[in-house]
Amino acid sequence: MRWNIRDIRQMKGRDKIPMLTCYDFTMAKLLDQAGVALLLVGDSLGNVTLGYETTVPVTMDQMIHHASAVMRARPKALVIVDMPFLSYQVSPEAALESAGRIIKESQADAVKLEGGERSLPAIRKIVEAGVPVCGHLGLTPQSVLALGGYPLQGRGQEGDRLLEEAKMLEEAGCFCLVLEKVPAVLAQRVTDAIGIPTIGIGAGAGCDGQVLVINDVLGLDPEFRPRFVKRFAELGSQIVEAAATYCNEVRQGEFPAPEHEYKDTSGHLSSAKGSTKTTKTRKKKAKE
Ligand code: KIV
Repeated sequence: MRWNIRDIRQMKGRDKIPMLTCYDFTMAKLLDQAGVALLLVGDSLGNVTLGYETTVPVTMDQMIHHASAVMRARPKALVIVDMPFLSYQVSPEAALESAGRIIKESQADAVKLEGGERSLPAIRKIVEAGVPVCGHLGLTPQSVLALGGYPLQGRGQEGDRLLEEAKMLEEAGCFCLVLEKVPAVLAQRVTDAIGIPTIGIGAGAGCDGQVLVINDVLGLDPEFRPRFVKRFAELGSQIVEAAATYCNEVRQGEFPAPEHEYKDTSGHLSSAKGSTKTTKTRKKKAKE
């Protein structure tokens, strides 16, 4: 059975909800085996997979391309896809068209879009058409240019406003809400005040669930160490080490070894007696 939005809603106040970002087929299979409830094809793929500095340049086609790959893994997890910058801000009609493309072309389960009051018309239009929507408040990375970076959001009275907007998003029909980089006390207030699950990232332990970028969880970028990330592995250094060992073995003629070779058992080449270049190299090395 696949997770659906009713399962996710019912988890509020009962079970914590684990969510991770995911951008491709192989990772979707692995994360699904791990039992993740929600997979987010985040537009953070712009940063961690496509090498952009921000999520702003990410296109609809790129989101659909990656979301489709994730869906081809047939995950049990519910798959949410980020709507890219300017795919929902222009008009509610354009927002619905964008959401429709994502759902129809990738076959994902839901979309996520950033913003509070300003995004309400788009959210209402999409929900009305039958597409589940996840909201996103606090730090909204698509506004990086307007925010002048990625500062903490919702301090002081700004927090009261964020709380009001969270209620508006619930009212507009969002089935869950991502809270990014806000003080933990504010995230707790929001979580207590609304009936839909909150999923925090840099928002403390009071949220109903947590989300992290999978590359950060796996420690793929040794340079990236923000306060809110916990690394659960150090695969970045392991990958470098494995690739360096591979390069070394190829250069030394140690790989491929006999167990990696195919034999021609037809007898046709029986007179050639181990004359392949690799076997010669290996014999030469053995003599040294
Ligand atoms: O794109 C993304 O990865 C996100 C998470 C940070 C919530 O929106």
